[in-house]
Amino acid sequence: MKIEPANTAKNANFLLCKNKNKITKKTKTMKAVITAVGGFVPTSILNNKTISETVETTEEWIEKRTGIKERRIAVGKGTSDLAFGAIENLMSNYEVEPSEIEALILATATPDHILAPTASKICELSGLTNAFGFDMNGACSGFLYALEMGATMIESGRYKKIIVVGADKMSSIVDYEDRNTCILFGDGAGAVLLERTETEYGLMKSILRTDGSGTASLVVPAGGSKFPASMQSIVHKKHFIKQDGSFVFKKAVAAMSSVSRDVLISNDLDADEIDWVIPHQANLRIINAVSENLNIGNEKVKVNIDRYGNTTSATIPLCLWDYAADFEEGQNLLITTFGAGFSWGATCLKWGVMRERKSQKSTKTANKRKVLVPQLS
Ligand code: UT7
Repeated sequence: MKIEPANTAKNANFLLCKNKNKITKKTKTMKAVITAVGGFVPTSILNNKTISETVETTEEWIEKRTGIKERRIAVGKGTSDLAFGAIENLMSNYEVEPSEIEALILATATPDHILAPTASKICELSGLTNAFGFDMNGACSGFLYALEMGATMIESGRYKKIIVVGADKMSSIVDYEDRNTCILFGDGAGAVLLERTETEYGLMKSILRTDGSGTASLVVPAGGSKFPASMQSIVHKKHFIKQDGSFVFKKAVAAMSSVSRDVLISNDLDADEIDWVIPHQANLRIINAVSENLNIGNEKVKVNIDRYGNTTSATIPLCLWDYAADFEEGQNLLITTFGAGFSWGATCLKWGVMRERKSQKSTKTANKRKVLVPQLS
């Protein structure tokens, strides 16, 4: 058999391998690309002034030490409602029908219930009648893990359209009498549509890590299978998030810096080829330290922690949604996260062509504001 050069257009997607006289057909490289984004934050705002009237702190301390000015609080809603809001926002802004979606992956640390899966409710609310849905908990790295899972499902060739949503109602596990944690967290959700592409755009290689020795440093001790809910667990406030803040802080800076360097190397990219960094929004000082370690200027680093605080699984997709208008086709993004577990990781992606926008008015709700009155204690 005559073998033509592999680099001709005709044979571009054939791997010609003379191993034992076999010619192996290689399918085109299939990748996953983000083609639509959506976000949702509740209208109620908890600002630093209100917190400073509840626990021993000051507005200045919170802003200086964390970068946070305010966070959104979901009143009378669950995580499924937040996720539904983000998907509704996505669907109302881009030309895509709910029936086209084949799978929904929800990253959350605050499911509506321990059982049934929150993703089931979201599929129902969003009319995803042809999709199966499941929850996963990777804490603050949950969305990144879910993105990798969704991308891998698409790269397998078995799925074409997947929604990955990160949603958390952190206010449901925050003790508003604990100044170590109540200053940090907020509620919100962000969603992306992942689709198949054979272009150069889309998700590149990721590096994801876990280290269970960090479990006790950032944990909700009770309410799970190890320490089910009891009178004692309630009396001792074991259903609230506990954190060794300064230890987690140092771990986060070291882990996000090193995994980001590693993922750049594995994708054959230099730091100066990165157009935008999307870091997990836990503390502005962590974000600044990581960008300094990577030698990437602050002007390339996307930040919205001042407005939303740490929304756990939602920080990355909320940032993608918030700043989508700034990303241009072909630009390189670096995403990096760190959270409970410990869980951390990084990925790179080349921003692609977004789906056509619907002409109707955006349902973006981020600018709607209703300041909460101090009644949290
Ligand atoms: O998303 C998951 C990953 N989470 C994170 O990455 C969060 C990481 N941690 C942090 O963001 C920070 O550690 C905190 C914001 C939680 C705390 O900031 P810090 O600069 O690490 O403070 P610290 O715990 O080292 O405490 C420094 C001082 C202490 O006082 P003394 O001992 O120096 O007198 C604390 O008692 O600040 C005091 N302090 C506060 N003062 C006013 C701690 N929290 C507060 C507060 N208001 N809310």
